[in-house]
Amino acid sequence: MTTEHSLLVEDLTLGYQDRVVVESLALEVPPGAVTVIVGANACGKSTLLKAMSRLLSPRGGHVLLDGERVHKMPSKEVARTLGLLPQSPIAPEGIAVSDLVGRGRHPHQGMFSRWTREDDEAVAAALVATGTLELADRPVDELSGGQRQRVWIAMALAQRTDLLLLDEPTTFLDVSHQVEVLDLLTDLNRSMGTTIVMVLHDLNLAARYADHLIALADGGLHAAGTPEQVLTPETVEAVFGLRSRIITDPVSGRPLMLPIGRHHDASAD
Ligand SMILES: Nc1ncnc2c1ncn2[C@@H]1O[C@H](COP(=O)(O)OP(=O)(O)O)[C@@H](O)[C@H]1O
Ligand SMILES: [Mg+2]
Repeated sequence: MTTEHSLLVEDLTLGYQDRVVVESLALEVPPGAVTVIVGANACGKSTLLKAMSRLLSPRGGHVLLDGERVHKMPSKEVARTLGLLPQSPIAPEGIAVSDLVGRGRHPHQGMFSRWTREDDEAVAAALVATGTLELADRPVDELSGGQRQRVWIAMALAQRTDLLLLDEPTTFLDVSHQVEVLDLLTDLNRSMGTTIVMVLHDLNLAARYADHLIALADGGLHAAGTPEQVLTPETVEAVFGLRSRIITDPVSGRPLMLPIGRHHDASAD
């Protein structure tokens, strides 16, 4: 089986009740790469990820996974190829960390679901990779926001899908854990060829970690391409309504966005 899968969005329209959130969106997720989606609050990023992972049915258009419409595929089949870490996942009350991470194995189990050695290995590896092994027996409810976020990432890793969608996986994490999680996802991409699609809030981390950057504005595509192509003062102004300067990040060589704001002078060096 190949690890590379194609994920395509064609003429996609999404909404809730009487309101359209995403309209006629077309985009392509490059296989084997890290794609980061950025955009202002409420522009439809989470809505898009839900539709891509088959949780939300489109009003129009479709999402194609290896050429097949995801909304016509059985959920377990989709879940073996594509995993989603939602923005605000909810853990069953009182569940222990290792049991929650074990739920990531559900798509791999048959009707008479027998827990296998492979399941054990996948859970253990996910706990180790996310630094949550020492939390394994703790109830998820009792963890700090950052610990809990790492446990959810462990659950997504335990699913061992070739495609991983993560909605703001660095929320609640301090800066060192943010970098750790993004490094971990990069390792997964580089070593296993996992295709990663994630929504990130921080434009500079997005530019640093993305192979492919997508900027959404008002439920439509504003720009897509390399971080250098997308992270420009024009995009920042159009997408966030913010004046900025872009310099080269001395650490990564990627573009780095400096917001200007009302109290600073755009021309100052
Ligand atoms: N379950 C829902 N029911 C109704 N409206 C929703 C629901 N989820 C999101 N929305 C609305 O859809 C818009 C886009 O939301 P979302 O995709 O979560 O934005 P983002 O992730 O970009 O911040 C927002 O205006 C939000 O209020
Ligand atoms: Mg969101």
